Amino acid sequence: MRKKIVAGNWKMNCDITQTYELLDQLKEKELSDDVEVIVAPPFTNLQSANQALLDTDILVAAQNMHQVANGAFTGEISAGMLQSVGVSTVILGHSERRAMFWETNELLASKVNTALENDMTVIFCFGEELEDRKSDNHFNVVKEQLEEGLYHIEAASWSHIVLAYEPVWAIGTGETASPEQAQEMHSFIRRTIADKYSSDIAQEVSILYGGSVKPGNAKEIFGKPDVDGGLIGGASLKADDFAAIVNAFE
Ligand code: 13P
Repeated sequence: MRKKIVAGNWKMNCDITQTYELLDQLKEKELSDDVEVIVAPPFTNLQSANQALLDTDILVAAQNMHQVANGAFTGEISAGMLQSVGVSTVILGHSERRAMFWETNELLASKVNTALENDMTVIFCFGEELEDRKSDNHFNVVKEQLEEGLYHIEAASWSHIVLAYEPVWAIGTGETASPEQAQEMHSFIRRTIADKYSSDIAQEVSILYGGSVKPGNAKEIFGKPDVDGGLIGGASLKADDFAAIVNAFE
């Protein structure tokens, strides 16, 4: 049975004081045992967050990492550095990284390799822009992002991969994909994995939906058979909302 996962991508929000406050509030909540809960604070707060959550089942992820082990890459953070503060999950390929920091499928393929070589779990993000959907090109774009960024990995590595389909037009806009649109794309993604690898691998991988998930719409989206959870932006910054989303699975 594939895992249900709800991950909070805090983006560039929360200083250390706010991080402790939010985690303290989250620790007060009853969170479903059936769901793997992940939070991804900014780099500066990863170690503190990890320590604050040691007595819980909540995992800490990074929002990005560099593809090289160390060296003259001012401002960058490596997989080994993340591991050294107890972080072994990393979000790669977020649309904001793709759009604002010029991360290409090719670059992401090499980041994925580095993460896997370092025994990390990757939450691999991808999704089409509004123009792609309007021109009915969304399936092609998603397929290409997966083929170029991810489908070079070995079958055995899929146990370290979580997928996050995030249509760019739904991120931070208040506009979500309908549950039917999410289901349609998730089932398409699973089919492409089955074609390239095997139906076992396709059935085992968790595919999260991201883009304006809120307590009011999570239940309907998570109710779809190929939606295994969510990658949550804005609503992950409020403990009440994030907990409600975690607990939105039937
Ligand atoms: P919002 O939930 O704020 O739309 O953000 C989604 C997202 O980008 C998660 O990575």
